Formats: sequence, C-alpha cells, structure tokens
Amino acid sequence: MEKLAPAHYPIQDLIQRRWSPLAFRDRPIPMTDLARLLEAARWSPSSYNEQPWVFLVAEKYINPTGFNKLLSCLVEANQVWAARAPVLMIGLAKNHFAHNNTVNRHAFYDLGAAVAYLTLQAMDLGIYVHQMAGFDPVKTREVAQVPSSHEPVVAIALGYYGELSSLPPNYQERERGPRNRNPLKDIAFRDTWGDSFPLP
Ligand SMILES: Cc1cc2nc3c(=O)[nH]c(=O)nc-3n(C[C@H](O)[C@H](O)[C@H](O)COP(=O)(O)O)c2cc1C
Repeated sequence: MEKLAPAHYPIQDLIQRRWSPLAFRDRPIPMTDLARLLEAARWSPSSYNEQPWVFLVAEKYINPTGFNKLLSCLVEANQVWAARAPVLMIGLAKNHFAHNNTVNRHAFYDLGAAVAYLTLQAMDLGIYVHQMAGFDPVKTREVAQVPSSHEPVVAIALGYYGELSSLPPNYQERERGPRNRNPLKDIAFRDTWGDSFPLP
C-alpha cells in the first residue's frame, strides 16, 4: 500500500513515499540493514556534535523476550498493531552536555533529527518506520535499566508493509485515511510573525 504525500511542490522521492503505517509484515529486518539505519542516524547533525541519542533495539525474531519487554511499555492502542512489527526501538536523549554538564536543551531536537535520518534511510530499503509518543517512559526506564542521564523520548516500530486485513476494522479505516498537513502559509512567515511568505 502506498500513500504518497500529495505535495504542492516537488519533493525528494523518499520524503514523498514515507508514511507511518499500522500494518506490518511478519518478516525480520536483516542485521545488515538495521546497521545501515543506525549508521544513518549516527551521521545526523547535533548541537556541539554532542550526538545525544541512544537507541534500544529489540528484534522479535532474535530475542522475543526482549521484544515483548519493550512492547509492554507501549500503550494498548499502539500494542495492537506494533506487536506485528519485527523490530521495536526506544529513542533516548542524553539531557546534559558531556563537556560542561549543563542542560542540553536541543537534545530532543537532535534525537528527532537522527530519527528522521534513520527513517529516510529505512524508506530507501523498503522499511517503514512508525514513531510513537504513546508509551510509558517510567516503565521503560525500569524494564530496560535506563540511567538517569538519559530520557526515553520516543518508541519506534520498524518493518515491511503487511496486509491491511490483518488490522482490526477501526485501524483499517485509519490506515486508509488521507494524508493531512497544515498549509504552507501557516508554517512560514517572512521576517516577522504573521507576515505571509509569498510562495508562488
Ligand atoms: C513523535 C511522534 C509521536 C507519535 N506518536 C504516535 C502514537 O503514539 N501512535 C500512533 O499511532 N502514531 C503516532 N505517531 C504517528 C503520527 O500520528 C503520524 O506521523 C502523523 O499522523 C502523520 O502521518 P504520516 O507519518 O503517515 O505522514 C507519532 C509520530 C511522531 C513523530
């Protein structure tokens, strides 16, 4: 199933093809491809080159116990579909700089950029990524023994596209729904807040 972004201006092919599916196929991701995804994340830019990201990676077909441990941290509405994905990750951000121990207020931002890199690299390999805020960071910290230096920020399901029919009916409806975005006029201003940026 494809859900190409109905972009108003030409955009890069991987960006246009990327979307966040619910229906994953029961097929493992080769380790070499997982390595490429993490390598892409590694080459993301970051404030002071701090690289404040860490990923917990759970492969269902390699270690089902570890996979179920991370799966149990997701809210029920996400577990319903994410259980079928072959890989789950938790993205964590290190909240203080290494060089002076001050708060790194761009740590979440940098983690998000790294996940964006990972996501586009995944799309290039035919792997879909679905990020989730719907998980319990406190439980994640406990079950995965996360140190206080790092904050669990996002859960991520990864895998190949599966069958729409594998989803409960209400999820199928959501899966078939349109791609929606705010208009460009609302996200870009010229110089001053509220002054329209005159795109053609
Ligand atoms: C940080 C973040 C948190 C998200 N949390 C959830 C979630 O908990 N459950 C879910 O089904 N989708 C979640 N999503 C997916 C968004 O709903 C999705 O990206 C958005 O609707 C746009 O759709 P698209 O990614 O297909 O373009 C999340 C996405 C991001 C980036």
